[in-house]
Amino acid sequence: EIAALIEQQQAVSDWPGYLFAVSDNIHKAGLLLNTPIEKGTAIKSAFNRGLPATLQELDRSGLRGRGGAGFNTATKWRFCAEETAAQHYVVCNADEGEPGTFKDRVLLNSHADQVFEGMTLAAAIIGAKQGFLYLRGEYLHLYDKLQAVLQQRRADGLLGDNILELGLDFDIEICLGAGAYICGEESALIESLEGKPGIPRNRPPYPVTSGYLNQPTVVNNVETFLAAAKIAIQGGDWFAGFGTEKSAGSKILSICGDCAQPGIYEYPFGISIEQILADCGASDVLGVQIGGPSGTFISNKEFKRQLAFEDLATGGSFIVFNNSRNVLEIVQNFTHFFAHESCGFCTPCRVGTSLLKKQLDKIVDGHGSSGDVVELESLCQLVKSHSHCGLGQTAANPILTTLQRYPDLYAKRLKTIRYEPGFDLDGALE
Ligand code: NAI
Ligand code: SF4
Repeated sequence: EIAALIEQQQAVSDWPGYLFAVSDNIHKAGLLLNTPIEKGTAIKSAFNRGLPATLQELDRSGLRGRGGAGFNTATKWRFCAEETAAQHYVVCNADEGEPGTFKDRVLLNSHADQVFEGMTLAAAIIGAKQGFLYLRGEYLHLYDKLQAVLQQRRADGLLGDNILELGLDFDIEICLGAGAYICGEESALIESLEGKPGIPRNRPPYPVTSGYLNQPTVVNNVETFLAAAKIAIQGGDWFAGFGTEKSAGSKILSICGDCAQPGIYEYPFGISIEQILADCGASDVLGVQIGGPSGTFISNKEFKRQLAFEDLATGGSFIVFNNSRNVLEIVQNFTHFFAHESCGFCTPCRVGTSLLKKQLDKIVDGHGSSGDVVELESLCQLVKSHSHCGLGQTAANPILTTLQRYPDLYAKRLKTIRYEPGFDLDGALE
């Protein structure tokens, strides 16, 4: 079965994106990475304090989801715990598919026990007996190692029946994805877990109400579970003492691209982009893609901005581009990526992302007119506002954020209107 999956995976993981060197080196460790917890201590602390009090600690910590969207973790767990149902489930979303993001791969390689401990903590709080680690298909190489960690936890009485003799029954199963980016969207992931094609569901209802097998389900990112385990031990005030008012704690970044030291960095929220670039040895920087293709491309005039939910949010992706790069080629690459990964379920995204790709290629290849740029922008708005899920709703971001920042680059490529100094692209777009 595994051999068949490897073959299948080789067929699907050949996206010809920017093949930047990525590195598993942890260059900068902060509150989560510098001192891993001892096995079982988060579970013991939670039961010693009491589960409702532990949920309050999580609330006090201000922890927000680390997959990118930043929903309050304690609120999510409380919503799920309050649902009366036959079963509750915990799902760890390790379908880390955002180009430029590889921090979950490193966390699972180096801190798997702590991630599983965070999942067990969630299970205790919401009343789940079963958990799933949904592992990105391309991370198949981690599968045996993670199974061994789970097996050891069962042997140590940290998974299975009556965990640590606390009356808690919970176990975790690992499920492999098969290379579809869309399965990182939580409801598509749940469909895939159920053995169906990964097509996003309508939300609401959110998974906390109706998730796996339509039962209440907590879905969180790998890093969120890692942080929750540590908070259960250290307390909410400890965590809230770092970061900013709206973005408590730290963020783990995977940094790649044009820098001397790609790898994993952990920073308190509120850190400036300038500081991060200095730390990773980036120079002559053109811009940074923050939050992957669905995020924001910021230019070198914006490096005083902060990494925080209230300014620049990211699930972990931080790609540096130096001045040798061509912005339009980057946008083209990302736009092709979305067209390739659209699941095809809804027309605005299935057709829209292909049209975006075609229209952008026409302009970048020098065959477009100013009218084509106007059409491109209105197509972007249409795909953004009419698509069924986050993929389609963000697929136009690379075009929109660069049209706004670098209108001249688009104007210079136009065929029928030759660019001349003073060309009013804004006027043309209106
Ligand atoms: P969302 O804002 O719709 O939901 C975030 C989380 O909060 C979900 O778990 C959702 O179930 C929960 N939630 C939201 N409102 C709720 C409510 N009223 N009641 C209960 N639960 C509620 O964001 P979404 O679409 O789930 O995720 C988008 C994010 O994913 C983006 O920020 C993007 O950056 C990130 N992303 C991350 C990737 C990665 O590899 N880490 C890949 C692609 C996107
Ligand atoms: Fe599928 Fe795209 Fe529609 Fe999402 S927006 S459901 S990825 S076709």
